[in-house]
Amino acid sequence: MDRRRVLKSLLVLLGSALSVSLIYPLVRYLAPPSGAEQGGKVTIKKSEVEVGSSKDIVVRNIPAIVINTPEKGFIALSKVCTHLGCLVQYEKSKNRLLCPCHGGVYNLEGTVISGPPPKPLQKFAVKVEGDSVVIG
Ligand code: FES
Repeated sequence: MDRRRVLKSLLVLLGSALSVSLIYPLVRYLAPPSGAEQGGKVTIKKSEVEVGSSKDIVVRNIPAIVINTPEKGFIALSKVCTHLGCLVQYEKSKNRLLCPCHGGVYNLEGTVISGPPPKPLQKFAVKVEGDSVVIG
C-alpha cells in the first residue's frame, strides 16, 4: 500500500469519526426521552425506578421526575421550580427536592418547605398497571 492510499484511508476514517461525533448528539437531542408518551401520558417500566431512586421524564413538554418512595410508592412531580423556573433536584438522602438556583426546598409531596417558591410543584397522576407505571 502506498503512502497516498494510507493517507486517503486515514482521512476517510477521520471524516467518518467526525461526522458520527457531530450527528450522534444531534440525534440524541432530537429523540424523545425514554418512556413512551401517548396522549400526554408517559409509560415507564416499574423496574426502571427501584425503591428509593428516581427517573427524569418529560410529561406534556414539562420536565418531571418519578420517584419510587418506600412509603408511598411512585410519585411524579414537575421539576420546574415555581419561583423562577429552575429545575429541582432530588436529594434522596434528605428525602426532598432542592432548587439549586435560590435554595427552594420541597418535600416529596411537592409542598414548599423553605425558600422563595410561592407555590407547590405540579403533581402528575400516577397509575401502576402491572409492570408499568403510567404518568400524566
Ligand atoms: S428558581 Fe427555584 S428557588 Fe428560585
